[in-house]
Amino acid sequence: MKDKSLVSITDFSKEEILRIVELAAEFEANPNQKLLDGKVVSSLFFEPSTRTRLSFETAINRLGGGIIGFTDSSSSSTSKGESLNDTIKMVSNYSDLIVMRHPLEGSARYASEVSDVPVINAGDGANQHPTQTLLDMYSIYKTQGTLDNLNIFLVGDLKYGRTVHSLMMAMSQFNPTFNFISPDSLKMPDEYKLFLDKQGIKYYEHHEFTDIIEEADILYMTRVQRERFSDPIEYEKVKNVYVLRNAMLDNTKDNLRILHPLPRVNEIHTDVDANPKAYYFEQAENGVYARMAIMASILGVK
Ligand code: CP
Repeated sequence: MKDKSLVSITDFSKEEILRIVELAAEFEANPNQKLLDGKVVSSLFFEPSTRTRLSFETAINRLGGGIIGFTDSSSSSTSKGESLNDTIKMVSNYSDLIVMRHPLEGSARYASEVSDVPVINAGDGANQHPTQTLLDMYSIYKTQGTLDNLNIFLVGDLKYGRTVHSLMMAMSQFNPTFNFISPDSLKMPDEYKLFLDKQGIKYYEHHEFTDIIEEADILYMTRVQRERFSDPIEYEKVKNVYVLRNAMLDNTKDNLRILHPLPRVNEIHTDVDANPKAYYFEQAENGVYARMAIMASILGVK
């Protein structure tokens, strides 16, 4: 993993994913290790973020590294017309590692090709969000005790939700069964279903999940991604299509855990929050440890 960019979850092998999960557990047990002393990380957020940016910043601080960057590209020279190529070339002169979120699909791959230092994709449009996937896998491993042979329900915006695309690709290495629940207009794109077909992974598509929820080990809820819709009327039609309520969890498995990459809008009612099967806030905390593991591995300090 040393010096490798992380643009797509497929950049990491199964063994590398398992190594990140193992290292995340080590960092959770002992979070204050000054392994990045003398290293500088650039944090370039061309799109809004709470969890990803702040958990990376927490991870860098806990590891004793320095951080530079921007949280709003309008405060950078992008607003004067500077290209992504020039921004990345400059920033790679100033730092040892670049963490970037950008609205354009493919922008992270492009940045990794022009950068002299590794690039971590913190989300590129509707494409991929690989560090979210690694924290999701750490969360699944912690709660299930295994990554193998799980029944995973992905619910909501499977078209634009980049977290479900990355998670599905990574989990496909662990013989899951997938249940995709979405309205027709937000179905899992064909390219991802083809990816599963090639690997012989079972998946089923549904419009509703209330009658099958008792089969789930992981229920991964997602927000309908308003910012990716070109037509606001289409968003209005589907924005409230799934709302998980506490009463729906009565007959579910004991090991079921409810995940959500957050932010939520109203797809998980707040009456679920006190249910022990709700795991989304712990999941977000796991992001600090997973991102410590990712940066320490890429910078070759662990
Ligand atoms: N899960 C996630 O990416 O959250 P943010 O958009 O707040 O970073």
